[in-house]
Amino acid sequence: NQDQLKQLVGEAARDEVLKLPAGQVLGIGTGSTVNYFIDALAPHKAHFFGTVSSSNATTERLLKHGFKVLDPNDVQELPVYVDGADEIDPAGHMIKGGGGALTREKIIASMAKQFICICDASKQVPVLGNFALPVEIIPLSKGIVAQELAKLGGTISLRVAKETNLDLGQTPSQPFVTDNGGWILDVSGLQIANPLALEAQVNQIAGVITVGLFAKEKADILLVSNPSGLSRVTF
Ligand code: A5P
Repeated sequence: NQDQLKQLVGEAARDEVLKLPAGQVLGIGTGSTVNYFIDALAPHKAHFFGTVSSSNATTERLLKHGFKVLDPNDVQELPVYVDGADEIDPAGHMIKGGGGALTREKIIASMAKQFICICDASKQVPVLGNFALPVEIIPLSKGIVAQELAKLGGTISLRVAKETNLDLGQTPSQPFVTDNGGWILDVSGLQIANPLALEAQVNQIAGVITVGLFAKEKADILLVSNPSGLSRVTF
């Protein structure tokens, strides 16, 4: 099943990062696939000087396992960032932010020399856009940003907190609030032919904190699992 596929690729990522020289800092993403990676890496934590984390949820999990979690401002060099994706295209461009952690994910990804994306094969698509594109915004800009995003042709909805967000201290059916105090607009119905151009265009809209298109910060390596095994793709 899908959980087994996520675990398989999480373990493959562990083997991949253990090839790094000892004593480095590792960037850690967010989501259910990354959680398997963190759990698989825990017995080897002494191989790394420490980690930088892309969300409060990931930080909590890392600390529980006894990893050191560093302030990104104190990190000079980050060789690798490992994270999942909601969709990835044949060039390594991704949609991310299904879990709401897109802003810190993009910051840590931009610090890293290499982005290793880990996912199961269901995330691979010919063209991005079936998964609604998350856009994190400053709450008071919701009206104007939604107006601007509507020009792209998709359908826009404000993300609301779910029962499953209760552990983040959120109230169901109220706006979902990110780790940074932002809200998220999800844009569905797009066919993203030119991810790099769209990323730049959405970044221009006043009130946008981050768009969940990772084209400038695309994957360098993809580890992907499917029922017949694992593959490794470099872009
Ligand atoms: C978190 O905000 C996302 O970008 C995740 O990286 C993405 O949603 C993948 O999560 P799963 O591994 O849970 O599918």
